[in-house]
Amino acid sequence: MAVKSFVALAAVLGSAAAISIAEINGDRYISPFKDKTVTDIKGLVTATNSNGIFLRSTEPDENPATSEGLFVFNSAAAKTVKVGDIITLDGLVVEYRSNANYIYLTEINKPTNIKVVSSGNEVKPLVIGVDTSFPPTKDFSSLDQGGIFGVPNAVANISSINPQLQPDLYGLDFWESLLGEYVTIKDAYQISRPNNFGDVYIRGNWPVTGLNAHGGLTMLEGDANPEVITIGTPLDGSKNPFDTRMGDYLGDITGVVYNDFGSYRLLPLTHLSPLKNATTDFPAVSFNSTGDCLGITVGDYNTENLMPDSPHLPLVVDHIVNKLRTPDLIFLQEVQDNSGNKNDGIVDANVTLTTLASKIEEASGIVYDFAEISPINNKDGGEPGGNIRQAYFYRSDVLQLYKPNLGGSLDVNEVLDGPELKYNPGRIDPLNTAWDSSRKPLAAAWKTVKGTKKIFFTINVHLVSKGGSTSLSGDLRPPVNQGVEKRTVQTSIVAEFVAEILSQDPAANILVAGDFNEYSQVDPLTTFSSISGLTDLDEVVGIDPVERYTYLFDMNTEELDHMYVSEGLHRDAKYEHLHLNTWQNNDGQVSDHDPSVARFNLCGCSSKKTKKSN
Ligand SMILES: *[C@@H]1O[C@H](CO)[C@@H](O)[C@H](O)[C@H]1NC(C)=O
Ligand SMILES: *[C@@H]1O[C@H](CO)[C@@H](O)[C@H](O)[C@H]1NC(C)=O
Ligand SMILES: *[C@@H]1O[C@H](CO)[C@@H](O)[C@H](O)[C@H]1NC(C)=O
Ligand SMILES: *[C@@H]1O[C@H](CO)[C@@H](O)[C@H](O)[C@H]1NC(C)=O
Repeated sequence: MAVKSFVALAAVLGSAAAISIAEINGDRYISPFKDKTVTDIKGLVTATNSNGIFLRSTEPDENPATSEGLFVFNSAAAKTVKVGDIITLDGLVVEYRSNANYIYLTEINKPTNIKVVSSGNEVKPLVIGVDTSFPPTKDFSSLDQGGIFGVPNAVANISSINPQLQPDLYGLDFWESLLGEYVTIKDAYQISRPNNFGDVYIRGNWPVTGLNAHGGLTMLEGDANPEVITIGTPLDGSKNPFDTRMGDYLGDITGVVYNDFGSYRLLPLTHLSPLKNATTDFPAVSFNSTGDCLGITVGDYNTENLMPDSPHLPLVVDHIVNKLRTPDLIFLQEVQDNSGNKNDGIVDANVTLTTLASKIEEASGIVYDFAEISPINNKDGGEPGGNIRQAYFYRSDVLQLYKPNLGGSLDVNEVLDGPELKYNPGRIDPLNTAWDSSRKPLAAAWKTVKGTKKIFFTINVHLVSKGGSTSLSGDLRPPVNQGVEKRTVQTSIVAEFVAEILSQDPAANILVAGDFNEYSQVDPLTTFSSISGLTDLDEVVGIDPVERYTYLFDMNTEELDHMYVSEGLHRDAKYEHLHLNTWQNNDGQVSDHDPSVARFNLCGCSSKKTKKSN
C-alpha cells in the first residue's frame, strides 16, 4: 500500500514532509511518527491555552479512528496565532505523559517555521454523539482480559501493545480517536466532586449505563462507565469551582480533548458553572426498630478516622440520631484511638467511643454501650498512630452480648459447640499474615432482650484498602485493583469462619457487614459468598442495582460497604443506603462513605409471624 511504504521511507529518513494530522495520529495510541521531525503540518487553530495550540486538520481522512486534532506544545507559539487561523508548521512528534501509569498524549514539540496561511476561518466544534458516534458504555480497552475487573491485573500496557483503535467498542479508544479535537458536549451533568485541581467527571446527552436517580453513574457488573470524560483546566486560565457535586447540571461544554493525570479530559473554553444544583437532602431511614426480636435495626458506618476531638464527630452524631434513627446495633469502622492520629503508642479507644456515646445520649437520650478490641500499636494499617478499628455500638436495652468474654488483640476466636464463640467479641485469626497492616475481623454473638433465645452472630470487617490502584483510564490493563489478591485471602478466612457456624446450625442468624473495600461482583466477594453461603443483602431485599452505592470515586458511585446475611435473616429484611455523603460537595461530606441501615427479624421459629410449615 502506497501510504504504508511512504511511512516506512519517512521512518528511514527520520523526517517526513507534508504529513496530515490523521497520519501523525495514526489509528493506534502511539504515533507512527513518534520522535520524528515532520514538516509542513497544516491545520486550523481551534483553541489555544497558555501551553500551546490545538489544530484541526484541513485535509481530514474518512477514518473515524484517526483523530483530526493535534496539540502543539509551545507557549510562545500560542501567542503568535489566533483561533481561526490556518497555519503550517514543522515540529517533532512526541508522546508525552507525566507518569509511567498514564496513557501517552501525542503532541508536536519545538514547532518552527510557523506560517499563517489565512485568518478568520470558521471554527465549529464537533458535537459528541451528533458529529461523532456515541461513546461506548461498557468496555474500556481491548486489552482488559476478563473485563475492567479482570485478574490478574496489569498483564498488558496500552503503550507497549499499542492496539488498533476501535472507537465503537472501547471507551478509551473512543476518546483517543478524538484527541486534540475541538468538541461540544451537550447537556452535561457532573457525576463526581471536584478533585484538588477542580477537575470533575461528567456525562453528556448520549446513552449511558448505571444512571442512578440522583444523576450519577453507578458501577455495575463488569461496567465501570467508560462513556464519561473528565473536565480539566479551562483554556482561558479561569478555575473550575470547588463546591460542586454529583448531579449538578452544567449545560453545554465546549473545549478540546486532551489526556493527562490518568484520564481523557475536555479542557473547556472557560470554567464550569452549574446551571442547576443537585439537592443534598437525603431523608432519614424509613423504618424503626420494634425493640424486640421482630425488628432489630442494624446500622453500618465507616466514620473516617474518628477521634475524640474530630470536627466531624458532632456531624456523625447528627447522622446517627436523625438519619439512621439510633439503630439497635451499629457496625462502626475507622474509629481511632484516644489520641487520634498522634503516633504515641496509645491504642485504647475508650475515650473516642465514650465521647461518641455521650454526644448521642445528649442529642437523643439514647444510651449506647460499645464492644471492641484494640489492635497492637500500628499493626492494623490506616493513618500511622491512629490505630483504626471496628467497633460495635449497641443499645443494651434491646440487645446484649451473649456470654461476653472479651478477647485480647492476639486471641484467636473459635466457633465452639452450640454454636457459640470462644471470645465474645473476639478477632478472627489475628496472627494470620493475611491481616498484616489490616484490620482483623471482629466477631460477636448477641441475644435480644425481648422475644427470642436464639443468638445472632455478627462479624464487623474492614478489609485492606484499594490505595495504590491505577486509573481505570490508565496505561496498565486491566487496571491495578490494589490489594485484590489479599482481600480474596481475607474474605476466604472470614467465610470459613461463617461456614463453621453454619455447619453446626444451618439456621444460624449471621450478619457480616462493614467496609469490604470491594465491589460485590469482584473476586474477593464472589469467593466470600460461595464459601460462606451468605447472600448480599442488596439481593435479598432487591435494591435496584443502580442505587447500590456507598462511595463516590472517579466517575463511579460504587458500593464498598456491604451486609451479607444467612438464610435465617432473609425473612422481613429491610435495607437502605443513606446517601448522606456521596451527594455532598467536598466541604459537605461528613465521611467518605455513606452509612446503611437494615432491619432483621431475629425471632426465628418462635416468631409470632412465623407460620409452621404444614
Ligand atoms: C507496563 O508499564 C509499567 C509501568 O511503565 C511497567 O512497569 C510494566 O513492566 C509494563 N508491563 C508490561 C506488560 O508491558
Ligand atoms: C449553586 O450553589 C452555589 C453554592 O454552592 C451557588 O453559588 C450557586 O448560585 C448555585 N447555583 C444555582 C443555579 O442555584
Ligand atoms: C420512626 O421514629 C421516628 C422518631 O420517633 C418517627 O418520627 C418516625 O415517624 C418513625 N418512622 C416510622 C416509619 O415509624
Ligand atoms: C479509659 O480507660 C482508662 C483505662 O482503663 C480509664 O482510666 C479511663 O477512665 C477511661 N476513660 C473513659 C472516658 O472511659
